[in-house]
Amino acid sequence: MNTTVTCIAPVNIAVIKYWGKRDDSLILPTNDSISATLDTAQLHAKTTVMISSDFKEDRIWLNGKEEDIKNTRLQNCLKEIRKRSQLSGYTNDWKICICSKNNFPTAAGLASSAAGYACLTAALAKLYKIEGDISIIARSGSGSACRSVMGGFVRWYMGSDKNGTDSLAKQIVPASHWSEMRILVLVVSDEQKKVPSAIGMKRSIETSQLLQHRIMHVVPERANKMQQAIVEKDFKNFAELTMKDSNQFHAVCLDTYPPCIYMNNISNNIMNLVHSYNDAVNDVKVAYTYDAGPNATLYLLEKDVPAVIGILDHFFPPFENAIEYRRGLPVEEIKPS
Ligand code: PMV
Repeated sequence: MNTTVTCIAPVNIAVIKYWGKRDDSLILPTNDSISATLDTAQLHAKTTVMISSDFKEDRIWLNGKEEDIKNTRLQNCLKEIRKRSQLSGYTNDWKICICSKNNFPTAAGLASSAAGYACLTAALAKLYKIEGDISIIARSGSGSACRSVMGGFVRWYMGSDKNGTDSLAKQIVPASHWSEMRILVLVVSDEQKKVPSAIGMKRSIETSQLLQHRIMHVVPERANKMQQAIVEKDFKNFAELTMKDSNQFHAVCLDTYPPCIYMNNISNNIMNLVHSYNDAVNDVKVAYTYDAGPNATLYLLEKDVPAVIGILDHFFPPFENAIEYRRGLPVEEIKPS
């Protein structure tokens, strides 16, 4: 006998960044973070899990290549799943095979691990008949993954319990609440990042004074203001907070020793262009944000998409400057699994 489940999970892009852990093994963050979950049709992970009495061992393939199943994060995720499993005794001991594929560059600062672990968790939860909150299980694979198990705008609460039972994600509003919101993903480079986020975060926690200031004095208030801007659909405040938070996150990376440099010249040019455009129209029409990589994500309202794409086409003709656009993605309307 065997059973197979396939799930699709989208990428999420943070507007208040998670950067720093207070507990490395449980993946407990040093601040709350907020993100929007993107449209699954465009950027997603697709994962199939199969359980069978015939399998001799657990195995995993990522983008067609077999990976080490002993990876600690993967093991954490599997352990959490098997602990909560509703399958009967002997079936629970059967081995599994996992196949996962991203339809976008992996580990290039496009939140591939978020989509990947959210998808794996959702598929395994279905396979093992687990009900209730699964964001905690996704968190045990990759922190930001806990925000990808639900759609719309999502907040990951850092929590205070040392075992992490209250470090989970909750939806702020569904995508339909702010249906005019659009996201442009500008793929500047699909190279794998040089410093993986787990290593960068550890280094920042150990060496960056700016990160300590951010954790204590900036994010608590900024996250609340961001939540309010989302609830009130206040684009100007949303956009300014988004850009400031991205800038502070990259300032922390530069304040880290040795520094982690994720943005490149094209990223900087896009950032400058956004400010020039907002200045020229004397308003805040578009916001940029960068994760741990050079690719830009722009947040803007639907009515401004044609003008902004026109400007981007003018300054960065697609392909000539190695930029590929994912045009005008909506925020995704998925329900918690
Ligand atoms: O979840 P991780 O370990 O891939 O870290 C993600 C960190 C950032 O993408 C830079 C920020 C965030 O909140 O997603």
